[in-house]
Amino acid sequence: MTLTAWVNGRFLPLDEATVHIEDRGFQFADGVYEVIACFGGTFLDLDAHLNRLQRSSESINIQLPVSLTELKSLIEQTYRHNPFDDAMIYVQITRGAAPRSHLPGAELTPTMVITSRNLPMPSAQKISAGVAAITLEDMRWKRCDIKSIALLASVIGKQEAAYRGADETFWLDEDGNVLEGCATNCFAAIHGMLVTHPLDHQVLGGITRQMVLKVAKAQGISVEERPWKLTETGLTECMMSSTTNAVMPVCHINGEKVGTGIPGPMSMQLRRLMLDEFETLKVST
Ligand code: PDD
Repeated sequence: MTLTAWVNGRFLPLDEATVHIEDRGFQFADGVYEVIACFGGTFLDLDAHLNRLQRSSESINIQLPVSLTELKSLIEQTYRHNPFDDAMIYVQITRGAAPRSHLPGAELTPTMVITSRNLPMPSAQKISAGVAAITLEDMRWKRCDIKSIALLASVIGKQEAAYRGADETFWLDEDGNVLEGCATNCFAAIHGMLVTHPLDHQVLGGITRQMVLKVAKAQGISVEERPWKLTETGLTECMMSSTTNAVMPVCHINGEKVGTGIPGPMSMQLRRLMLDEFETLKVST
């Protein structure tokens, strides 16, 4: 299928969908983005993603170029041009094109690109064996709550993980607390409780993270949002969550087994509950 993208007011075949070389996204990574999953034509938590996009763009003083209602319609139209059974929709917004200067001019028209692509599902092997992660000291900026397109640290983290035969890098703060992954939020089962770093400027407020906490609480699993370390006594499992992964068990970190080295009961339970939750969302939309 030839992919079709929305670029600044029109739908174009991907090969012809271009932005200006003076776009501030290209020059300065001056922009924000969102990733939304769509299963069988139903968008998962679209409003939550759009609200986060609005928060991200407002926090760097970019006005969304269209209203949220118009954006919703454009996302739906983009999906209809590229109707994969399992799709991921990327919305990228930059401050716009202008002669290169760090200080942006006042009257820029934001650039907006929307794509819909196939969302690859984790293989059965990955689900049954769990994924592997490494840890690195966090080298990102201090506003990780903004979903910025400046992803260089995440690219380096992913490259280093791949080089070491792993799938993801968990960022650690200077005290060794696990913050989040390059493109995931991180959790641990500690003494039977689900633990994850609290929302602050060091982590992205993941939409999937929110869903995981909700389904966990509904099942009577105690949840603690607090800093945590991989070395804590009572830690038996690790997990990561994202729009593109739901919940995945993380069974090896830095080459060492987490717990027994196979997906543990809480990870598997949460993964199943999340997939059930996705089904419910599909039915209720
Ligand atoms: N990444 N933390 C970071 C740094 C992320 O980039 C992401 C998502 C998450 C999980 O957020 P959510 O549950 O809302 O997807 C956490 C997306 C998938 C990406 O960049 O492709």
